[in-house]
Amino acid sequence: MTFLESDTLKRVKPSPTLAVTAKARELARQGKKVISLGAGEPDFDTPENICDAAIKAIKRGETRYTDVDGIPELKAAIVEKFKRENGLTYKTTQVSVSPGGKPVIYNAMMASVNVGDEVIIPAPYWVSYPDMVLLAGGTPVFAVGEMADGFKLKPETLEAAITPKTKWLILNSPSNPSGAAYTEAELKALGEVLKKYPHVWILTDDMYEHLTFDNFHYTTIAQVVPELYDRTLTMNGVSKAYSMTGWRIGYAAGPEPLIKAMSKIISQSTSNPCSIAQWAAVEALNGPQDFIPQRAAVFQKRRDLVVAGLNAAEGIYCPVPEGAFYVYPSIEGLIGKTAPSGKVIQTDEDFASELLQTETVAVVHGAAFGLSPFFRISYATSEAVLTEACERIQRFCASLK
Ligand SMILES: Cc1ncc(COP(=O)(O)O)c(C=O)c1O
Repeated sequence: MTFLESDTLKRVKPSPTLAVTAKARELARQGKKVISLGAGEPDFDTPENICDAAIKAIKRGETRYTDVDGIPELKAAIVEKFKRENGLTYKTTQVSVSPGGKPVIYNAMMASVNVGDEVIIPAPYWVSYPDMVLLAGGTPVFAVGEMADGFKLKPETLEAAITPKTKWLILNSPSNPSGAAYTEAELKALGEVLKKYPHVWILTDDMYEHLTFDNFHYTTIAQVVPELYDRTLTMNGVSKAYSMTGWRIGYAAGPEPLIKAMSKIISQSTSNPCSIAQWAAVEALNGPQDFIPQRAAVFQKRRDLVVAGLNAAEGIYCPVPEGAFYVYPSIEGLIGKTAPSGKVIQTDEDFASELLQTETVAVVHGAAFGLSPFFRISYATSEAVLTEACERIQRFCASLK
């Protein structure tokens, strides 16, 4: 039987990270001790008060359909969160909740992007942005950040990428994969450019807001450039900060017409996010927040361990990121060297593949995130595992001739 592949599906490429993951699984099946540093989720448990709130919700019978874009109690908690943490004022009618941050972005694209519309995506980028734009019929336009600038988008690079067809700029701070976070001054500088182009909307993905280090002062663009409030969708979620990746709750706040348009998409696709998970998210946002900086401190320690361990590896240079739980080291110093297998390392994909074969450490190559020659490590795992991983990477680099 011929599979009836749609034109929409043809626009999308399979996840470039899948090849590495599949290979890692295969090696593990063969009994090899694989260290997988590919996962994008905290290794902490969901706090108990949040789990208890979910159990109570089940027992209360909160098990039915809800409003498609979120229960009023969760929307109120989100409004409070934006006021408390970001100094942003929204009405509940400006809030949309979906099953994770990912569908929030997808709904925004589906609700607003027409064929031919351009969406500016700073590289290196989270792997899903370009394909979500493509699914919506739009054209991703990549604005590349340099390592020397901490992988951040510069105002002049942004301005050069804007055309009359630009619909959105997607900002992500702290960033997956680089861990880079924009300072208030950097956001203001981007804001100066954006003020000149009122047709450009801004989607800011703030998923890693609470994972910043060294007393970084976190701000989001609608807060520091109020002139952009009317065309900014500020997206966030409970997945990373509250260790709730499996609960599937993400949210955004922005202009009411956009929120309404997203609700129409939701009503004909996913419908409401899980009722129980929504009540858990109410507790997450309204309950105690003290464990968040404690967990961030653990991540900072791991970051320092990984940065030092990688910088001790011959040919690798690892900058120090401001947040998230990723590092994005350069392997420029290894290009052209020969691995023990006889393969010449020509790309970051070769590097990741040979590292996996030789030392069974799984990392994701930079090309998957739109900037080479780099690789991404997720350090959301124990210090013991990270130490072992760094030792293996050092041994691998030393073995290259
Ligand atoms: C930058 C970024 N945005 C959004 C998401 C999606 O989060 P969620 O699991 O809530 O869909 C992720 C998850 O990896 C991410 O890294």
